[in-house]
Amino acid sequence: MRMIEMNDGLWARILALRGRSDLADRLDCEPALALYGPIATACEPFVLAQVGQSLDGRVATPTGDARDISGPDGIAHLHRCRALVDAVIVGVGTVQCDDPRLSVRAVDGPDPVRVIIDCRAELSGEESLFDDSGAPVILLQAHDAVQKRYRADVIRIRRRANGLDPREIIDVLGERGLGRILVEGGARTIARFIAGGLVDRLHVAIAPLIIGSGPTGICLPPIDQLSGATRPKATVYNLGSDILFDCRLRSGEGATSAPAQRDEIRVPDHA
Ligand SMILES: NC(=O)c1ccc[n+]([C@@H]2O[C@H](COP(=O)([O-])OP(=O)(O)OC[C@H]3O[C@@H](n4cnc5c(N)ncnc54)[C@H](OP(=O)(O)O)[C@@H]3O)[C@@H](O)[C@H]2O)c1
Repeated sequence: MRMIEMNDGLWARILALRGRSDLADRLDCEPALALYGPIATACEPFVLAQVGQSLDGRVATPTGDARDISGPDGIAHLHRCRALVDAVIVGVGTVQCDDPRLSVRAVDGPDPVRVIIDCRAELSGEESLFDDSGAPVILLQAHDAVQKRYRADVIRIRRRANGLDPREIIDVLGERGLGRILVEGGARTIARFIAGGLVDRLHVAIAPLIIGSGPTGICLPPIDQLSGATRPKATVYNLGSDILFDCRLRSGEGATSAPAQRDEIRVPDHA
């Protein structure tokens, strides 16, 4: 297990790597550079998904309390990831449950553009993130969703059988110069990107608490045999308060998995 020992100088060096894909193969083996360098220097499009969970794989209580699952070092890690990407994506369920700011506060660095998948235009426009003077907000809604007024850039995407196609989401964000993306949750949103074979890296940060019940961080279609499980190549990092699995999900980066389900992605209800 590799220990992440961050300091201001090292973090400034990592931040300076943002967008420098020409330096991707010149990262040294310092653990923090090995962890964050590939995000900062990734060729676009690049998708990182991140889950902060308990020992028993929960990301919230059954009533939706999700604050403080990750310890302080897990939160700093999440904020570093936000600072290294162009955009952070969450589903409408996360906005409704958590009312998140999605900003970089625990470390120095730029705030990413905030992207909300709200296929059915469920948000009212009164949610905090529309009015907090933070980074720009992009709402992704279906072409036939009811029209409302938002203090945000609303992008309409054709509704498919299973909602909005994550590949189209990556394309429309790429057209706006948002090529490095962090998919932060919740489970249904992450599942669609994973099931589409679109996630390059998956970060699972585990904090030492047991919640006992409640939603899990990743919710994929059921499999019968473990031979059908995805077994990504992973590096394990000790963040301090949390343990991080840095998983390479793209084939060619060491993952073995069942065939990608690109044509028809079915996401079950919460476990
Ligand atoms: N600890 C963490 O790392 C973390 C991070 C974020 C959130 N959370 C927790 O996760 C919980 C929320 O998770 P969740 O899974 O219920 O909510 P979610 O993923 O934030 O949002 C789910 C909603 O978004 C829709 N959606 C997602 N992707 C879509 C797509 N491509 N096209 C159309 N619709 C799409 C879903 O539609 P369907 O109804 O059609 O599926 C559903 O209505 C909260 O308790 C929150 O606190 C934890």
